[in-house]
Amino acid sequence: MLKIRLKTEQKGYPVYLGRGMIDKIGSLISQYLPASSMLVVSDRNVSPHYGERCLESLRSAGFKPYLEVLDGGEKDKSLTTALTLYTRALQEGLDRHSAIVALGGGVTGDLAGFVAATYLRGVPFVQVPTTLLGMVDSSIGGKVAVNHPLGKNLIGAFYQPELVVSDLDTLNTLPMREFNAGLAELIKYGVIWDKKLFKRLEFFGAKASSRGLFLEVDNPWLLKCIARAVLIKGEIVCSDEREKNLRRVLNFGHTYGHALEAAAGYEYYLHGEAVACGMAMAARLAVLLKILDQASELRIRALLTQLKPPSPPQGLNYDTIIEALYFDKKKELGELNFVLPTALGRVQIYKAPPSRFVEQVVEEYLRDELL
Ligand SMILES: NC(=O)c1ccc[n+]([C@@H]2O[C@H](COP(=O)([O-])OP(=O)(O)OC[C@H]3O[C@@H](n4cnc5c(N)ncnc54)[C@H](O)[C@@H]3O)[C@@H](O)[C@H]2O)c1
Repeated sequence: MLKIRLKTEQKGYPVYLGRGMIDKIGSLISQYLPASSMLVVSDRNVSPHYGERCLESLRSAGFKPYLEVLDGGEKDKSLTTALTLYTRALQEGLDRHSAIVALGGGVTGDLAGFVAATYLRGVPFVQVPTTLLGMVDSSIGGKVAVNHPLGKNLIGAFYQPELVVSDLDTLNTLPMREFNAGLAELIKYGVIWDKKLFKRLEFFGAKASSRGLFLEVDNPWLLKCIARAVLIKGEIVCSDEREKNLRRVLNFGHTYGHALEAAAGYEYYLHGEAVACGMAMAARLAVLLKILDQASELRIRALLTQLKPPSPPQGLNYDTIIEALYFDKKKELGELNFVLPTALGRVQIYKAPPSRFVEQVVEEYLRDELL
């Protein structure tokens, strides 16, 4: 088991990484929280595997846990579902000393974290991510949110957990497509921050198994790669908790990626897949802008191609993507900004690149030329 300590302005907290952690969760949490009641939030794919085991471990450590199982999926990140959780917490008599535990992927973590940040003006919160994306990204850094009909993650807070417990064994039941979506985020850290990690992932990509998996769940290196991602995200977030500056580098692939998700209607791509496409597009844009050499671009795109992100859906057209790109720009005070690679392991924020290049990349993507 590995323990990584993160320190933000709000607070410091540990991230535990290892295998067989679900059955130890009660004793781990009891080192940080007093015995109290807690609401464990999960979804119907995760709960049958880990819900009861998690509750049993919590009970044997003296906690009084209640389990709330959601349908799961992006539509659950809503104020309506948050209301269901507030109601359950009130009915079970959860008070300021009670905690909320998120057992699931990024959807569960974002939603349960939002409820923890707002229930009784804030109660302790524990993240137990069960997706790779959750382990390397969404459980780290304290961004919690629900969606608004007009856009994703628009209602939220910065609210750090008391601890994060990632059990890699839970990845054994994660569908391969979801696992690959998480690998996209690992590649992101390699491109924005850590050339060594990028090269390590390239090495695994070259040896991809016959089942097509990029990096198997039981590969001992997976723990090291996740730990590296946690350290990188931790370092970035700790120096810029509220996304004023440095934290924006984590948005590599997200400008194009969000536009693809919005244009395709949020159901077609998994978030990590849209980010994978967005990263390939950003690398291409960087070459057109002459800030990245072509060899590096090809290496980035070759690695992303191994994840087999879906091709553009039938009917997705240029105008809808461009519209979605420029809609996002309103949130950035009128500027369309991109995080672009300048070398492997290094990125810069590029403000308002010429629209002909931005649009050329969209055309190339739609012709299925990038991945
Ligand atoms: N807060 C942040 O900083 C941050 C960062 C990145 C993404 N996010 C958010 O995270 C969300 C995406 O997260 P996600 O990709 O984890 O999606 P998710 O929570 O929807 O999980 C993906 C799917 O896998 C299932 N699942 C999860 N763990 C499983 C397991 N171990 N075994 C079997 N099935 C399992 C879920 O039920 C779901 O169907 C998005 O809403 C995104 O906005 C947040």
